[in-house]
Amino acid sequence: MGTSALGTSRRKAVVIMAAGLGTRMKSQLIKVLHPVAGRPMIHYSVRLGLQLGAERVVVVLGHQRERVEAYLRGAFAGEPLFFAEQPEPLGTAHAVSCAVPHLAGFEGDVYILSGDVPNLRAEALAPLADLPGALRLIGMAPRDPAQYGRLVREGDALARIVEFKDCTPAQRAIGEVNAGIYAVNSAFLFDTLGRLGRNNAQGEYYLTDLVQHAHQAGLGASAHVLVGDAAADLLGVNDRVELAEAEQRMQAHLRRIHMRAGVSFIDPARSYLHDGVEIGADTVLEPDVALLGATRVGANCVLEQGVRLVDTTVADDVIVHAYTLSEKAQIGAAAHIGPFARLREGTILGAKVRVGNFVETKKTTMGEGAKANHLSYLGDATIGAKANIGAGTITCNYDGVNKFQTHVGAGAFIGSDTQLVAPVRVGDGAYVGAGTTLTADVPDGALAMTRAPRRTIEGWVERKRQAREAAQKSKTE
Ligand code: UD1
Ligand code: CA
Repeated sequence: MGTSALGTSRRKAVVIMAAGLGTRMKSQLIKVLHPVAGRPMIHYSVRLGLQLGAERVVVVLGHQRERVEAYLRGAFAGEPLFFAEQPEPLGTAHAVSCAVPHLAGFEGDVYILSGDVPNLRAEALAPLADLPGALRLIGMAPRDPAQYGRLVREGDALARIVEFKDCTPAQRAIGEVNAGIYAVNSAFLFDTLGRLGRNNAQGEYYLTDLVQHAHQAGLGASAHVLVGDAAADLLGVNDRVELAEAEQRMQAHLRRIHMRAGVSFIDPARSYLHDGVEIGADTVLEPDVALLGATRVGANCVLEQGVRLVDTTVADDVIVHAYTLSEKAQIGAAAHIGPFARLREGTILGAKVRVGNFVETKKTTMGEGAKANHLSYLGDATIGAKANIGAGTITCNYDGVNKFQTHVGAGAFIGSDTQLVAPVRVGDGAYVGAGTTLTADVPDGALAMTRAPRRTIEGWVERKRQAREAAQKSKTE
């Protein structure tokens, strides 16, 4: 059996450190709840821990503990998630020791991650399973090693990590640094944590001191160092600049996944996707499309410029024309929506529906092939299959206190500029004349209209002009 098979079969637990202050965010909101691709950053760390197959994921929290815990309990209900409190941020080793009570009886590898590294994915962690030693870590050699802890080697062995603030000038020149991602043998970890001091430049309990202990005890420490572009996935978020960089990196990653699955992006950098959005093959995204929340788009669709879909389900072969906004709606196969349409919560559009410019829908169902092509408000309504809603039709669904339903039957024809005063029903195949204010039901197949009788007054304009001129003359004389 190779080391790889041995490595991956070891039991795993995960500790996620997230009790730091995050002051550089300059925010009321704790750092790990700031979103990247629509999810709080810490979501990605917890999800990664579970993907690794961890028996337990322990999250160490301090500030806004209740808020973070409430979010994670909701997002990962039923998963083996535990919460530890670090009352004061006394350093990374102290943070991990706060998690230890939740690891009682565990034997295997304890993976230690941070809650602020949203682009870290399982591929980057894979080498940890195969490295030798009681402590294994992922390092990086970035162009600017900045203030990261330096990896000090003795020959091939990793001898210790020296924090930037504790470094000699020679140590500062080391290009290999600690990314803060570890796999540690549990017995070694539990045994050693309590023996670490805080005699250093920051007066903190340094988790990185474990390296020296492993090396000196002959248990071994090792590092897998990522170089070039791959190292950028390891970068933590400390301020809004790094938050924006992490977001861009995540966006590029999500786009690549969709493109490889058959989705076309006309101008990739000008789209915005949330994590978890689904898009079918042969769908095309024009510039400035945003797909957010639990949105799912089918195959062979066109999303034109400026389309914003939130929690929206789109079937196959749909065209969403430019600048359409949709929230909590469903769009049926081969429908054409927009430009400038607004679909609100509870909109359910059947196959081949047409919803055109400046049409707003809310809690409205439209049957297969129904049309509302221009300038309408359809709220609390059911529109039958193949019904035609004329330009300027509105449902008067609200009397200032209560909402009422409108029903338009299959194949009905609603003339332009009609007000459907709810509650009201238009029967199957019925017609409503243009300009009607409809306050009572229309039977199947009937015509209804309300229209003031027309008057025509011949010569009125000329008589009016003469009267005006006469009045002007008498004033100037
Ligand atoms: C740490 C490492 C450093 C490494 C760097 C990578 C130590 C001593 N140093 O630096 O070698 O290059 O990470 O990013 O570990 N945290 C707590 N409680 C605390 C302190 C920190 O939960 O008391 C959490 C933070 O929220 C964060 C993580 O631990 O998620 C790392 O802390 P941070 O202060 O960013 O890292 P450094 O200690 O500067
Ligand atoms: Ca620190």
